[in-house]
Amino acid sequence: MKILVINGPNLNMLGIREPDIYGKKTYADLVDTIEACAKRLGVCVTVFQSNYEGALVEAIQNAYFDNVDGIVINPAAYTHTSVALLDALKAVSIPTVEVHLSDVDNRDEFRKHSFVKAACEKTITGKGFDGYVEAMEYLAAKQ
Ligand code: DQA
Repeated sequence: MKILVINGPNLNMLGIREPDIYGKKTYADLVDTIEACAKRLGVCVTVFQSNYEGALVEAIQNAYFDNVDGIVINPAAYTHTSVALLDALKAVSIPTVEVHLSDVDNRDEFRKHSFVKAACEKTITGKGFDGYVEAMEYLAAKQ
């Protein structure tokens, strides 16, 4: 089974950005957590991060041509703005789980709306790195 984990803008700044909200662990720590989870579940994982919306759209499109079985996506700020990411996820029809480190429903009003949610089977918020683990377990259990 192939899982693609996609992380959006500023997630590369984990550990530096707003540690009171996102914690002190770094992006490299997140990648380690995801790779350890993939090993435990016996799945192949690719982790992709970009600060550019178009690069995220292309990663979703490439998932179709690479026969990816499941996508875990934290679109970060593009969650709340991007119809392009929604359309890309709808285009590829790959089972997808939306993940947010923080509890987006209990922060700023503008974070309550997710464009991508309509294309996702499940949304996990406010669980930190564990949210990614839960998302991967959910996708692995579908196989
Ligand atoms: C985030 C929440 C978003 O609102 C924010 O723009 C992010 C990170 C999260 O993981 O909690 O960059 O997606």
